[in-house]
Amino acid sequence: MSVDLTTGYLGLELANPLVASASPLTGSLGSLRRLQDAGVGAVVLPSLFEEQVEHDQFQIHQVLDYGAGSFAEAAAGYLPEAGDYNLGTDGYVRELEDARKELDLPIIASLNGTSRGGWVRYATRLESAGADALELNIYLIVTDPGQDCATVEQRYLELVEAVVGAVDIPVSVKISPFFSSLPHMARRFEEAGASGLVLFNRFYQPDIDLDDLTLVPNLVLSTPDELRLPLRWIGILREGFGGSLAATSGVHSAADVIKAILVGADVAMMASALLEDGPALIPRILEGMTQWLEERDYESTDQMRGSMALSRASDPEHFVRANYVRMLSTFTVPLR
Ligand SMILES: Cc1cc2nc3c(=O)[nH]c(=O)nc-3n(C[C@H](O)[C@H](O)[C@H](O)COP(=O)(O)O)c2cc1C
Repeated sequence: MSVDLTTGYLGLELANPLVASASPLTGSLGSLRRLQDAGVGAVVLPSLFEEQVEHDQFQIHQVLDYGAGSFAEAAAGYLPEAGDYNLGTDGYVRELEDARKELDLPIIASLNGTSRGGWVRYATRLESAGADALELNIYLIVTDPGQDCATVEQRYLELVEAVVGAVDIPVSVKISPFFSSLPHMARRFEEAGASGLVLFNRFYQPDIDLDDLTLVPNLVLSTPDELRLPLRWIGILREGFGGSLAATSGVHSAADVIKAILVGADVAMMASALLEDGPALIPRILEGMTQWLEERDYESTDQMRGSMALSRASDPEHFVRANYVRMLSTFTVPLR
C-alpha cells in the first residue's frame, strides 16, 4: 500500500485508523489474533462491568445469546463462548496479560461502571496487566427527575478525574449523545484529563413483548445510517477539542471510515459489521480506503483528516440548524 495509513490515537501509534471496538469479538485471545492478522490498527477489549465484578452475569449472557444465535459466522467459531465473556476481574486481567504477551498492536481495556471506588481500583489493575490505554464507558440512564444535569455531569467528571489521577496510561471516555451542550461537556472532559472521546455509546433500548407484556432487552446490531450522528458531532467538536476523537456506531464500510476521518475522527471503531462479516472485512476496508485515497492523490490519512469538519467545510450550515429548515421545506414524497 503506497498511502500512509498510520494514525495517532490517544498518543499511541496505530498502523491504520481501524479499531475493533468492544464486543464479543475482542473477548478471546483467538479472535484477537484473527483481528490482528487481518490488519486492524488497535483493539478495545469488552468492558469490565462493575456489575460483572460483583454478581450480575445476566446482561452479558443476553448479549452473547443474541450474537451466537444470529450469525452464520458464529458457527465458524470466532465468537467466544458466553462463559468466556464474563470472566470476573481476575479472568479479565489474565486475558489482558495473555493478550499483551501475544499481540503486537495497541490494546485498550474498557471499564463500564458508575462508582468511583470500583473504577479506580480496576483501572490500576488493568494498567499493570499491560493495557496501553483505558476506555471508560459511562453508561448511566437517569430516571429521577430530581437529579439535574449539572449534578450528573459533575459525577461523570469526578469519575474521569479519579481514573486519570490513578493511572499513567491515556484514558478515553465513551459517551452518549444526550448532553444539552456537548461541546462544553467535551471541553470539561478534556480539562478533567481525558485524552480522547469515543462518540457515541449505543444504548440498547428495551422492546415490549405484546404476548407476555414484558420488557425485552433487545440488542439490534447497527446500520450504516447510524453513523450520521457521530459524523455531525465529531465535525462540530473537532476544532475545539484538543484530544483524540473516535467514531463508533454505524461504521460498516471503507466509505464510512473515510467519512469519519474527513469530519475529524482520528480512528473509526467497528463492532456490528465485524460481528456480521468477521475479521475478513478488515483487509477489504483497508483496500477500499487506500484506493479512494490514491485516486485523489492523498499521501496519508492525516492529509485529509478534518478537512470536512465544521470549521473547514465549504458548506458548514449542513452541520447545524440552517440546513434543517431547508431540508424540511424541500422534502417531497410521491403522491399515492
Ligand atoms: C454484542 C455487543 C457487545 C458489546 N459489548 C460492549 C462492551 O463490553 N463495552 C462497550 O463499551 N461497548 C460494547 N459494545 C458496543 C460497541 O463497542 C460499539 O460501540 C457499538 O456497537 C456501536 O458500534 P457498531 O455500530 O460498530 O456496532 C458492544 C456491542 C455489541 C454489538
